[in-house]
Amino acid sequence: MVRDVVVLASGRGSNFAALLDAQRQTAVPIRIRALLSDKPAAPALARAREAGIDAVALSAADFPDRAAFDRALFARVAEFHPDLIVLAGYMRVIDTAVVDAWRARIINIHPSLLPKFPGLRTHARALEAGDSMHGASVHFVTGELDGGPVFAQVEMPILAGGTPEALARRLLPLEHRLLVASVDLIARGHIVLGSSGVELDGVPLAAPLRLQIDGSLRSGFS
Ligand code: GRF
Repeated sequence: MVRDVVVLASGRGSNFAALLDAQRQTAVPIRIRALLSDKPAAPALARAREAGIDAVALSAADFPDRAAFDRALFARVAEFHPDLIVLAGYMRVIDTAVVDAWRARIINIHPSLLPKFPGLRTHARALEAGDSMHGASVHFVTGELDGGPVFAQVEMPILAGGTPEALARRLLPLEHRLLVASVDLIARGHIVLGSSGVELDGVPLAAPLRLQIDGSLRSGFS
């Protein structure tokens, strides 16, 4: 069964492009129905249009407050009847009531090993903390910023003398593989957010799955 997906992005859209590639290669049983953005100039919108995918931009400045904007944006999302909403570089906090209406059907990719470094400047903060490892996480979205249940992560070592930019550059291709593998597990029904947490094939997930060298997500390391 093919799952309908809507992607939200605020910027460049390389994670969106990775999902698009996976769909084209029929590696993942999804059909991306639309790309929505809060930034009318986001390159992600152009990428969607080039691919023949509906691209919709709404500007927060046109709405009285966050909740009104989020209600309008997600009303547009709902028109595409998604099974899954993917936040891929979507840089706004979403109103809790709006998010709750999509519980278990909305995920986000975040460039840190959550619960470390929710929010912005994750690469700089990992360096400032003197961490030896960095990475990215995929989690179900709740009203708490980058705070919903994490079910998949990729880790990589931090090299001595690195910059935040270099770290971001090294992490990005791993993010792409992590997101594709995460969406694949959800689309195939393996990962589900149940009433008491994330389940993998019906069994509570004790710790986030890790991206393996072969691109799959499993417990622990290969
Ligand atoms: C990624 O690092 C993502 O994890 C973060 O924002 C960046 C978006 O990149 N939330 P892109 O727009 O997908 O290229």
